[in-house]
Amino acid sequence: MLLTVADASPSWADVLQQIAKAENADALNTLEQQIFGRKDGTMTLAMKELKDLDGAGRMERARELNEEKRKLVEAIESRKTALTSPDDGTLKKNDALDVTLNLPKKEQGHLHLVPEFIAEVEEIFGRMGFDVMYSPEIETEDLNFTQLNIPEDHPARDMQDTFWMKTKGKEKRVLRTHTSPGQIRYMRSHKPPFRAIFPGKVYRKDADATHSPMFHQFEGLMIGKNVTLANMKAVMETAVRELIAKDATFRWRTGFFSFTEPSLEMDVRWKGEDKTKEGDWLEIVGCGMTHPNVLRNCDIDPEEWQGFAFGFGVERMVMIKHQIPSIRTLFPGDLRFLRQF
Ligand code: PHE
Repeated sequence: MLLTVADASPSWADVLQQIAKAENADALNTLEQQIFGRKDGTMTLAMKELKDLDGAGRMERARELNEEKRKLVEAIESRKTALTSPDDGTLKKNDALDVTLNLPKKEQGHLHLVPEFIAEVEEIFGRMGFDVMYSPEIETEDLNFTQLNIPEDHPARDMQDTFWMKTKGKEKRVLRTHTSPGQIRYMRSHKPPFRAIFPGKVYRKDADATHSPMFHQFEGLMIGKNVTLANMKAVMETAVRELIAKDATFRWRTGFFSFTEPSLEMDVRWKGEDKTKEGDWLEIVGCGMTHPNVLRNCDIDPEEWQGFAFGFGVERMVMIKHQIPSIRTLFPGDLRFLRQF
C-alpha cells in the first residue's frame, strides 16, 4: 500500500517501512515523488507548513523534519542500491568464474620419465623418416632367438637368464629378452627399403643398480641398397645428442651380437654409483650391420640389400640424462622422486 498524499500528517516510520518494502524501481520512484514532489509531496507540504509556526515551536519542528528527511533520503538511496544490485542467486551465477581471483595453483601431472622419453624417441626418429612399430612382449623362442641367428647354446636361452612361459606342448614362449624380434616381424611384413623403430618392454633375470628384470629398449632397423656403418653412426650420434645432451661424451667399442656383423657398442659418460661395475661409462646400445643370415631368414637377398640395426636401453639413457644413480628409483612410482622432473 502506497502512502496516500492526502494524509497530511503521515507517520514517518510507516513511510520508511514502505520505502524498505518497495518492490521495484518504479514503485520506489512513485514513493519518492509522493514524499518529495515539488507541489504536493508529503515532506514538501510539511516543510511548507513551517511558515505557519513561530518562534521556538518552528525551530523545533524544523529540526524534527530535517531529521526525518535525512532518514527518508538515506532509506530511498539504500533501497535503490538494493534494487539495482543482483540478488545472491545471480551473483553466484555471474561470478561462477572470477578470472581475477588468485587460486592455489592446480597440480598438473606429467608423463613418467620413461614413457616421456619414448615419446621423444618416436618424435626424433619420426623426423629422420623412421616408422614406429610395437612388437609383442610375449615372443616365441624362434623369433626371440633362432631367427636372429642366436645359437642353440647361447646363455640367453638359459632358464637362469630368461623368463620362460609355461606352454602346454606348443611352441616355447618367452618374455622377450630384447626388442630385436621386432626386426624379424617388420622385415617379414614390409619390403625394403625401410627404416623403423620398435620401442617397448623387455625382460631379463637381472637386478642391480644398472639392471632391472623389466626395462625398456628401442630397436632401430634401416635396410636399403647402400646403407652403411657410417650411416648407422650418424643416425645414432644424432639420436644420442638429441635425447641425452648436445655435448654428451660417448665412445664406440667393438661388440658381438650374432644378428649383426660387424657389431659395435656405445658407452656414454655418466656419474653413477661408485660401487657399480660400470664406473664412469655406461653402455647404452648394441648395434651393427644386419647379419646376412637374418636377412635371408626374412626373405631379403643380402646380395641386394644391406643395413643396420641397434637396440638402445631406455632407462640407462634416462639415468644419464638426469644423473640418476640407480635404475631402481625409476620403478616404484615414488612422487618425491618423480616430482623433481
Ligand atoms: N638386442 C641387443 C641387446 O639387447 C642389442 C642389439 C640390437 C644389438 C640390434 C645389435 C642390433 O643387447
